[in-house]
Amino acid sequence: MTILSLFQLIVYNLLQVKLRDVIVFHCWRNSALLQLAQLFSQNYIFSQYVNLNSAPEHWVNFHKVYLDSELTKLGVFLDLSCSHSAYITNQSSRARLYSEHFHWLLYDETCNMSQLTALFDKANLSINADVSYVQLAEESNEGSLFTLYDVYSRGSHLGGQLNVTIDQSVYCNHSSCAVRQYLSELHTRTRLQQRSNLEGITFRQVALVTVLPLNSSAQELLGFLDSEQDAHVDWISRLGYRNNLHLQEMLQFNVSYVWVDQWSLNDTIGGAMGEVVNEHVELSTTAFVLSTARLRKIFPTTDIGQFRSVCIFRTPHNAGIKTGVFLEPFKPSVWLVFVALLMFAGLLLWLIFRLEHHWLRRYLAYIPSLLTSCLISFGAACIQGSHLIPHSTGGRLAFIALMLTSFLMYNYYTSIVVSTLLGSPVRSNIKTIQQLADSSLDVGFETIPFNWAYLNSSPRSDIINLVKRKVDGRSPSSIWFSAQEGVLRVRDQPGFVFISEASFSYNFVEKYYMPHEICELNEILFRPESSVYTIVHRNSTYKELLKQIQLRMLEGGMTQKHRRFYTKSKLHCFSNNYVINVGMEYAAPLFMALLAAYIVSFIILLLELGWAYLSRR
Ligand SMILES: *[C@@H]1O[C@H](CO)[C@@H](O)[C@H](O)[C@H]1NC(C)=O
Ligand SMILES: *[C@@H]1O[C@H](CO)[C@@H](O)[C@H](O)[C@H]1NC(C)=O
Ligand SMILES: *[C@@H]1O[C@H](CO)[C@@H](O)[C@H](O)[C@H]1NC(C)=O
Ligand SMILES: *[C@@H]1O[C@H](CO)[C@@H](O)[C@H](O)[C@H]1NC(C)=O
Ligand SMILES: *[C@@H]1O[C@H](CO)[C@@H](O)[C@H](O)[C@H]1NC(C)=O
Ligand SMILES: *[C@@H]1O[C@H](CO)[C@@H](O)[C@H](O)[C@H]1NC(C)=O
Ligand SMILES: *[C@@H]1O[C@H](CO)[C@@H](O)[C@H](O)[C@H]1NC(C)=O
Ligand SMILES: *[C@@H]1O[C@H](CO)[C@@H](O)[C@H](O)[C@H]1NC(C)=O
Repeated sequence: MTILSLFQLIVYNLLQVKLRDVIVFHCWRNSALLQLAQLFSQNYIFSQYVNLNSAPEHWVNFHKVYLDSELTKLGVFLDLSCSHSAYITNQSSRARLYSEHFHWLLYDETCNMSQLTALFDKANLSINADVSYVQLAEESNEGSLFTLYDVYSRGSHLGGQLNVTIDQSVYCNHSSCAVRQYLSELHTRTRLQQRSNLEGITFRQVALVTVLPLNSSAQELLGFLDSEQDAHVDWISRLGYRNNLHLQEMLQFNVSYVWVDQWSLNDTIGGAMGEVVNEHVELSTTAFVLSTARLRKIFPTTDIGQFRSVCIFRTPHNAGIKTGVFLEPFKPSVWLVFVALLMFAGLLLWLIFRLEHHWLRRYLAYIPSLLTSCLISFGAACIQGSHLIPHSTGGRLAFIALMLTSFLMYNYYTSIVVSTLLGSPVRSNIKTIQQLADSSLDVGFETIPFNWAYLNSSPRSDIINLVKRKVDGRSPSSIWFSAQEGVLRVRDQPGFVFISEASFSYNFVEKYYMPHEICELNEILFRPESSVYTIVHRNSTYKELLKQIQLRMLEGGMTQKHRRFYTKSKLHCFSNNYVINVGMEYAAPLFMALLAAYIVSFIILLLELGWAYLSRR
């Protein structure tokens, strides 16, 4: 009974890949099948049987009936010596069932390799095929020796050849199986590792270029993608192109190009996205922002960059007069205590002067009034000495204590004021899109379709307000600018807000702005930051392989290196390489306070004059 050895082999093979669901296409007698069923149930394997000798209508559309399962992986056993097995392989190829979701075990009792080649030469086999071909090598009464082969292709539709590689020989008797001998190196590595060489196949790659006409020669277009000039132009596509060159080097495939000048028309239609979704290409140079509709069609491999839409503007000069700065260093309670202290010191001084006059008989030219002694103590607070000082030791000590306290307070105060002025260029208090919509600032947008689409379709209430207040009813020419125009306008017209893609417009900022102008820029996120991902089609047979290699590039820092070259995500404000001018926004309150003081003192002077005049009368 050699068939028992075969059954043992099936179970052994399934358990090796930890599969417990199998469908068996066979043409054995039912009595033999009983033993197989028992063996499966002993090993907790769920099984289903299709007899290929039965009427063909039972297995017409068999892949819908039997193989359309929810399982992530299903074992399939097929006996190639059955008369209708060619039909099964033919239909499986059409339905592209030779994928990582099915573990195929093809059994060939006659050892006719040319039959295998005939069946699979043209079949839809690819890099992720999981197909083992089993030949019966020797049989005896005790058991049988089987030879296993690994079958795949680098991509039959891209010019890959059928590759049948010998793997191992397995000896099975009626009760168990064991590897007799490894016949190649295949067992040493995982399936993807063995197959990470795509020599001889040609990937189609969609390449996006928006700045050259598409009827330019391929050489010119490639030259543009390759060049390092104006790195910000189409940077997502050029970054992806660089990355894919490394990919090409590592996997050794060849590439043909499909040129487009659009990312996509809507979520999944048109442009580079459309080419990937329609499976016209395997690779795309440009990366995409993800959305739910896209995820149904594509598979993101790695995150290669950020898409940031920002609003930038310089703080307008009339952005509010800051009175706070000069009062901020101390809390009100400290101010209060300090003033009380000064007044108390003034009172004390006055008392001291009087005491000295009356009791120590030190006759001064005149006794300072209470107001004068308060003035002296105020002068001390401003680090001014006084020509009137007490003569007694106790009085002098009190005076020194007053000077010392004021000295410390004064130093706290000045250092805090200086650090506030140095630390921050004036920032606008507009921090959100809603505040921007409510403000009186002018707004302009970069002319990219994305902005247009986002303004028109965003459900966010602040964006709707922004559109209502800043876009509706204005002429397009006063709203839409190229990145360069917009950035220059932001520089020349404080208060003008420009909304654009950061990595692109920051190039102009670096080019045209003085360092202090960069420091004065305010930045508000127009929409939440999102990553852009390299993509392949959801059903791409290469997705795992490409993902692994791209992740390796990401970990190795290659992607990062290119990203740094092509994008600017941050502006550096070197705030200590220029002198801070205290502007009117800080100085105005002081001048106004001075003016008010003059007016008050003038009025008091008039009152005093009036008083003196009256008392003389
Ligand atoms: C490969 O699959 C496609 C469908 O994706 C099918 O149209 C084609 O006939 C298949 N080729 C073969 C040789 O089975
Ligand atoms: C092997 O298979 C091929 C194609 O199916 C057939 O032409 C040939 O006769 C077979 N050879 C043997 C020895 O069965
Ligand atoms: C599948 O069968 C059709 C005819 O039914 C045939 O034209 C085609 O070449 C076969 N494909 C394979 C891979 O054998
Ligand atoms: C077939 O695949 C194996 C790895 O599975 C590889 O070592 C071998 O070079 C391939 N043969 C051909 C002809 O490509
Ligand atoms: C089957 O082979 C194993 C070793 O490969 C041996 O231990 C066992 O006794 C054999 N069983 C029978 C029934 O021959
Ligand atoms: C490309 O097409 C435009 C018209 O669409 C034409 O004016 C231009 O001459 C063409 N350029 C080349 C190199 O063929
Ligand atoms: C890659 O393909 C192009 C055309 O498709 C061909 O000219 C070139 O020789 C191929 N290169 C390799 C290494 O196969
Ligand atoms: C994209 O456009 C096509 C037709 O132009 C439409 O059928 C499809 O629903 C649109 N998809 C989305 C997500 O808007």
